[in-house]
Amino acid sequence: MRILGIETSCDETAAAVVEDGHKVLSSVIASSADMHIASGGIIPENAARRQVESIIPVIQKALLDASIKSKIYDLGSTIDTIAVTYGPGLIGSLLVGVETAKTLSHLWQIPLIPVNHLVAHIYANFVGKETRGKSQDTNSHLPSFPALALVVSGGHTDLVLMKGHPSANSGQASNIKWLGGTRDDAAGECFDKCARLLDLPYPGGPSISAEANKYFQHPGSLPAQTGNNYDLTTFPRPMLNSKDFDFSFSGLKTSVFNRVKEQKSGRMKVIPRDQLAAEVQEAIVDVLVKKSLDAIKKYKPKSFLLSGGVAANSRLRERLRLETGNLKLETTLHIPDAKYCTDNGVVIAASAFYGRSTTPWQKISANPELSITDRI
Ligand code: KG4
Ligand code: ZN
Repeated sequence: MRILGIETSCDETAAAVVEDGHKVLSSVIASSADMHIASGGIIPENAARRQVESIIPVIQKALLDASIKSKIYDLGSTIDTIAVTYGPGLIGSLLVGVETAKTLSHLWQIPLIPVNHLVAHIYANFVGKETRGKSQDTNSHLPSFPALALVVSGGHTDLVLMKGHPSANSGQASNIKWLGGTRDDAAGECFDKCARLLDLPYPGGPSISAEANKYFQHPGSLPAQTGNNYDLTTFPRPMLNSKDFDFSFSGLKTSVFNRVKEQKSGRMKVIPRDQLAAEVQEAIVDVLVKKSLDAIKKYKPKSFLLSGGVAANSRLRERLRLETGNLKLETTLHIPDAKYCTDNGVVIAASAFYGRSTTPWQKISANPELSITDRI
């Protein structure tokens, strides 16, 4: 089954064609991040306007790259289904993808699957994995259930337990149980806001990570391969030892704000920016890793699935590998290819393949407030 996945929830316009939930035939992403660098963050109206400009060329290129037909209106039967993100996200951006997908579904007379963007992030862990192969690398196998998933993106931080694939047709709302999430800022939002405070460009996650890597290269700093870096303790680890699976990152942002202000006024010793970036990253990673390990120990899932834009962070990936390895658990750690962590059309198509909740286009509308446990 070939699915065209369409993603427009925020500042990326993305489309991809994926066969049978794992084989990527094409993936095209147009980002309006360049526009948001000047403003230091996303202005929703500007992001939506760019979505309108990009959506048709992006879909067309995805179809062309997949060696399907050169013209959208001549698609015929080469695509079996269309999948589109219907929430959560920015309403103006979501509407562009949803209305385009509905129009194409009606025009081409092919089914449409509405996709929950947060659930789709988890499916980055299924891309490129066909069956339980012979490979010794367990990360190359399809994840087994029950699975514990950490979704860390720009707007969300959620820890969920999945009994199986979400199935709208089974009569159950969802196979997903929410264990905890952020009480204020999301992890990605914290990276973005702290980057701004440190005069680093949007998006903040990659720029903080690059700046932190400069610090890790200094002679004398602990090598990046080490586990918990006890040298980097300038900032607080919010809710690190709370007995639940909730997170809070707004206090960390305030702490960075105060540090920068005090350093500028000369009231505090200056910590260079590359170290401050490493400090911010380490504080966020410490909390994400600790809560993930606590949940793994408690629920003993067969798989742990890292996902969302922040999952592209090399320090988080490395720390999880190291620390789950140390525990010698039965849980298989899955870390997706970094290019499928941030927003893309591939995960939309992959998640639609496994969810299979075809819905008449007349019943689909964008829902910016959708939560990870909502289906439709
Ligand atoms: O999932 P995503 O692409 O979009 C949303 O659904 O929000 O996540 C975007 C977030 C941004 O906050 C961005 O700064 C963060 O993911 N991010 C990273 C990295 N790459 C993207 N955070 C830390 N390290 C990275 N390498
Ligand atoms: Zn996302």
